[in-house]
Amino acid sequence: MNSSQNKLCVKNVTKTFSHDITAIQNISVHIKEGEIVSIIGPSGCGKSTMLDLIAGLSLPDSGDIFLNGQSIVGKTGKVSYMPQNDVLLPWRTIIENVTIGLEVQGMKKKEAKIEAKQLLPAFGLEQYGDHYPYMLSGGMKQRASFLRSVLCKKEVMLLDEPFGKLDALTKRGLHEWLIERWQESHFTMMLVTHDVDEAIYLSDRIYIMSHRPGKIIAEIKIRLEKDRLKRSITSVEFASQKEEILSILEGKSAAAFF
Ligand SMILES: Nc1ncnc2c1ncn2[C@@H]1O[C@H](COP(=O)(O)OP(=O)(O)O)[C@@H](O)[C@H]1O
Ligand SMILES: [Mg+2]
Repeated sequence: MNSSQNKLCVKNVTKTFSHDITAIQNISVHIKEGEIVSIIGPSGCGKSTMLDLIAGLSLPDSGDIFLNGQSIVGKTGKVSYMPQNDVLLPWRTIIENVTIGLEVQGMKKKEAKIEAKQLLPAFGLEQYGDHYPYMLSGGMKQRASFLRSVLCKKEVMLLDEPFGKLDALTKRGLHEWLIERWQESHFTMMLVTHDVDEAIYLSDRIYIMSHRPGKIIAEIKIRLEKDRLKRSITSVEFASQKEEILSILEGKSAAAFF
């Protein structure tokens, strides 16, 4: 695999924590420009660890990570990152919360607010800029967190279980909304999720990880319509891909590769 052909490329990365906990072992994944790729794996298998490494928040023991062919190991600010359990600061209004990333990048507060305000309508938050987080529903808070990541305007977005805590209906609405945003700008996205339906609905490809030490045990190409809004979670094709993924996760099937 030529790392320069991919937008993002994680190559043979291993990360061990103290007390000999190997969180991930020799992981290689890649993502092409405009692709949505999901990572599925059991709890504790190292998914968040991998995103932290890509975001430059921690260093691997070995291996390399490339963005546009350039190593980004240990470099922060290269990708947008919505971490697991991303929280809005309760003492800041929504507009002040979503502009945090821009302020960290050195933009003046006033300019950051002007920029953020323009995007509030597309995120369904037009009336809520001056509200505080406690005044918003769960789905609205997730959209605000997502807007905070989008405003950082990086070429790659990493989302760690962004819809994890939401009820099924709110989640479904956000999936459609996310795809509409993606159809407008075709950002490149890596999504960590526990939800197999969500992964199939949103992704071009899915990587499946093993229990700790996390390794990639399969790479599944989604064979459904390219247009996500036409994908039906009740179709035979959807069920067949779900079966394929669940059988690998449950250890009933040989991995698709390795
Ligand atoms: N900072 C840390 N120090 C020690 N162990 C850690 C640290 N971060 C994560 N781990 C351990 O590494 C493993 C992978 O964690 P994590 O990446 O959060 O898994 P996942 O996101 O797949 O649930 C877990 O066993 C976790 O306890
Ligand atoms: Mg995690």
